[in-house]
Amino acid sequence: MTYLVVDNCIKCKHMDCVEVCPVDCFYEGENFLAINPDECIDCGVCEPECPANAIVPDNALNGAELEKWMDINTKYSNIWPVITQKRDAPPDAEDWDGVPNKYEEHFSEAPGEGD
Ligand code: SF4
Ligand code: F3S
Repeated sequence: MTYLVVDNCIKCKHMDCVEVCPVDCFYEGENFLAINPDECIDCGVCEPECPANAIVPDNALNGAELEKWMDINTKYSNIWPVITQKRDAPPDAEDWDGVPNKYEEHFSEAPGEGD
């Protein structure tokens, strides 16, 4: 099992999650963070830290949704830099909270800065 970052993180990117992870398995994109499923120890401490409710245990997803977010977290956590120190959320983070289909319409493949 692993936890996964899902759609509502995109362009919200509060980054509260990264500071609590005991195994430093968050990786930073330009407007999204990914968890590395092979490194996550399934401790669950990041889930309640996210103001956008964008972190879920993999068993909360099913079928195509599970496959989609497992693939996205796996792919990008292997190419983006690790991030362990919180920085400020984007100034318009609140405006993006709850906007649907962010992955399809707003996701950036570009890496973030990392630590
Ligand atoms: Fe890190 Fe634990 Fe969250 Fe996995 S569940 S990403 S180990 S804080
Ligand atoms: Fe994203 Fe939530 Fe972390 S918005 S960056 S998963 S705190």
